[in-house]
Amino acid sequence: MLVHIPGLLNSSQVDEIRRVLAATDWVDGRVTAGAQSARAKHNLQVPEDAPAARALGEVVLTALGRNEDFVSASLPLRVFPPLFNRYDEGMCFGAHVDNAIRFAPGGVRVRTDFSCTLFLTPPADYDGGELVIEDVFGEQSVKLGAGDLVLYPASSLHRVNPITRGSRWASFFWGQSMVKDDGQRALLHRMDTAIRQTRAALSDDHTAVLALTASYHNLLRMWAEV
Ligand code: NI
Repeated sequence: MLVHIPGLLNSSQVDEIRRVLAATDWVDGRVTAGAQSARAKHNLQVPEDAPAARALGEVVLTALGRNEDFVSASLPLRVFPPLFNRYDEGMCFGAHVDNAIRFAPGGVRVRTDFSCTLFLTPPADYDGGELVIEDVFGEQSVKLGAGDLVLYPASSLHRVNPITRGSRWASFFWGQSMVKDDGQRALLHRMDTAIRQTRAALSDDHTAVLALTASYHNLLRMWAEV
């Protein structure tokens, strides 16, 4: 399931992140790549342990925790500290699958169930640079507004098309979900969304709302690992 979350960050938050990133040192993006993806990866990254990356990552994590749609779609157990990358003209990332297990600071293992890209450059400022994700319906090409996020299964093959003009800045990160299976997460997300709509259309204590909410929680209890 691909989920587009518009406006995760507002324009002043995006501007502030870009201001800090502009004054930061960037290194070759292959530092976080596995053996296969290192051959396909041509971009720049802020080092994981850079103080700027950690502080900006906290801004992103706070926004994620407050976003109902992100929480509903990902059911997060652990989120890897957000990283920051850029693709200048001629840079790209060929088709790859993200590593299944990553080590967060402190040695905590994170199984990557979902991947996220948070766009930090307005689409009019660059050409190319689409994030192309293979899902069950074929290839989906994603290029979103600054501050928007896309959430997708970490198991999917994906790439970033070459940049032909300008520079594309983004934050990217992975997370382990309480519900490992993407199909089960998609069902729960659609059900949760429908329950919120039903509550708004009827009332919080309508019998149908209570029954649907009970079913949602009982499915989550059946499938979640915490
Ligand atoms: Ni990737």
